[in-house]
Amino acid sequence: MKIYRAKDYDAMSRRAAGLISAQIIMKPDCVLGLATGSTPIGTYRQLVEWNQTGDLDFSRVTTVNLDEYKGITPDNTQSYRYFMDENLFNKVNIDKARTYVPDGTESDSHRACENYNAILRAVGQVDLQLLGLGHNGHIGFNEPGDIFEKETHCVTLSERTIQANRRFFASEDEVPRQAYTMGIKTIMSARRILLAVSGEDKAGIVKTAFFGPVTPRVPASILQFHPDVILVADDAALSECDLPESGQL
Ligand code: F6R
Repeated sequence: MKIYRAKDYDAMSRRAAGLISAQIIMKPDCVLGLATGSTPIGTYRQLVEWNQTGDLDFSRVTTVNLDEYKGITPDNTQSYRYFMDENLFNKVNIDKARTYVPDGTESDSHRACENYNAILRAVGQVDLQLLGLGHNGHIGFNEPGDIFEKETHCVTLSERTIQANRRFFASEDEVPRQAYTMGIKTIMSARRILLAVSGEDKAGIVKTAFFGPVTPRVPASILQFHPDVILVADDAALSECDLPESGQL
């Protein structure tokens, strides 16, 4: 695992955006795996800026998102499809027909997951998978459990995740209890993984996930076994790790 240390959220966002744009420049028809949440907002903002100044071309890029709430429509402002449209897709020259997010409107969980697995197989290997990190070590919506789930599956969100997402909804009752998420095997199949982390509140889990044992109780810990992971984190998120300025684990 390579670790890039950034001084703050903005520097972390620029560094993550730089790595994504390098991927697009090297392979204009690449497949990007994308995440939602607070962490990548600055990264997407930077990518939009480079696209608008004509330095970055999304016209041949395909994207697959990690997850979506179950029982939510794309026009719901809290859906991950809406988030992606607002933060990236509507602002760059991407072909929206090649941007994929699990279908939260499909109430048959089995069908929703199989449909998304078929999409993932059809688009082929993800060249660069962007991830955020949950406070309990989740990646996508792969919550702590007894096993690493392999492919797209329906999850019941943990109380901690419901509380963390509560801030985006009018009331706790409105926070969806279930979600569809890419599985760990799919995430691990990406050629390269870019994990972006910011803030002191993530310092404990960064240490546990990347310096502790690999266990499904801390889903992100599996990334220790991936051959090409880049962790881009700010000083606050790395504050519990004993590391050089920038380095390799
Ligand atoms: C969202 C996702 C989640 C988030 C994680 C961190 O698509 O996959 O795993 O990356 O919950 O969220 P933030 O960035 O809001 O701290």
